[in-house]
Amino acid sequence: MISGLKLLKMFWIVLFCLCFWRLDGVFGDEIKLVKLGDSVTLNSSLTELMDDDQILWRFGIKNILIAEMNVTDDNITLYDDVLDGRFRDRLTLDDQTGSLTITDITMKHTGVYHGIVINRTSVSILLAINDEISVQKGDSVTLNSGLTEIMHDDQINWMYKAENALTTVSIKRADRMTVYDDVLGGRFRNRLKLDNQTGSLTIINITTEDAGCYALLILGPKESLKAFSVSVYNSVHCCGFTEAVIRLVLSALVGVATVIILVYDIRS
Ligand SMILES: *[C@@H]1O[C@H](CO)[C@@H](O)[C@H](O)[C@H]1NC(C)=O
Ligand SMILES: *[C@@H]1O[C@H](CO)[C@@H](O)[C@H](O)[C@H]1NC(C)=O
Ligand SMILES: *[C@@H]1O[C@H](CO)[C@@H](O)[C@H](O)[C@H]1NC(C)=O
Ligand SMILES: *[C@@H]1O[C@H](CO)[C@@H](O)[C@H](O)[C@H]1NC(C)=O
Ligand SMILES: *[C@@H]1O[C@H](CO)[C@@H](O)[C@H](O)[C@H]1NC(C)=O
Ligand SMILES: *[C@@H]1O[C@H](CO)[C@@H](O)[C@H](O)[C@H]1NC(C)=O
Repeated sequence: MISGLKLLKMFWIVLFCLCFWRLDGVFGDEIKLVKLGDSVTLNSSLTELMDDDQILWRFGIKNILIAEMNVTDDNITLYDDVLDGRFRDRLTLDDQTGSLTITDITMKHTGVYHGIVINRTSVSILLAINDEISVQKGDSVTLNSGLTEIMHDDQINWMYKAENALTTVSIKRADRMTVYDDVLGGRFRNRLKLDNQTGSLTIINITTEDAGCYALLILGPKESLKAFSVSVYNSVHCCGFTEAVIRLVLSALVGVATVIILVYDIRS
């Protein structure tokens, strides 16, 4: 069983990776960042199953059984009616490898998965949605919780990663909402707004300093994880990372072309 604290710790690792561009390889198959609507395959971590292996896949802090397979009798059971049927028609269990595929991922499918090969091995994999957002300095940006309404027992935690630590900037517990905008030397003061209908967080008059990783952890019935990579650009003419690279390459090409033309001019 995984506790809320463990989940937070694992999530911190996700953010750490995200922020330092070191996602691949370092933590192996423990972390999967996906976009809404993606499919993902969770690896059982075994290359080969043995004849009498029994494989279980469990989901969430409450460790709900969602899929099971006995290799001996080649019997697979998908419990896709659990948790309000959120996994219905979305699960496939590979009878050769025991890996679990989830298709058409929504916020409801994020969180922690446990793959257990009884008496042999087990793996915990964290699945989170990752949104990349690019916003112009001075604008407001809304980080969308993906919820349409929030209930009494939904706990919504917004965090920001600064100086290698996750700082809670806003929290909603029961009917209380708190925005901690004097954390980090008050840099967010009067600039954070939590929507009391959807739990979405708005950052007003964003500065380049505000760029980085924001995280949403929802505990309670709607348990889910979401990460936001926010980049802030200076003027209408600049842009996100990819565009910045393209621009750099383009200006390098223009530079090279200019030199070639100059040399050609001089020679002739
Ligand atoms: C699953 O894990 C096995 C063993 O670690 C590895 O050989 C295989 O490439 C993995 N498959 C995927 C899709 O990651
Ligand atoms: C697998 O085997 C175990 C023990 O024999 C049994 O309890 C379980 O129901 C079986 N599951 C499937 C999916 O056949
Ligand atoms: C497969 O598992 C299900 C549920 O555990 C069980 O009802 C069924 O009899 C099993 N079938 C075989 C062929 O073992
Ligand atoms: C797991 O190990 C226990 C004790 O060693 C044994 O009783 C049990 O049958 C094993 N289960 C499987 C599925 O191999
Ligand atoms: C939500 O916030 C608005 C203004 O920010 C306020 O008027 C409204 O009463 C609040 N609703 C609830 C349910 O707290
Ligand atoms: C936005 O923030 C800058 C400092 O970062 C400040 O100079 C400016 O007045 C702010 N604009 C608004 C509309 O609050």
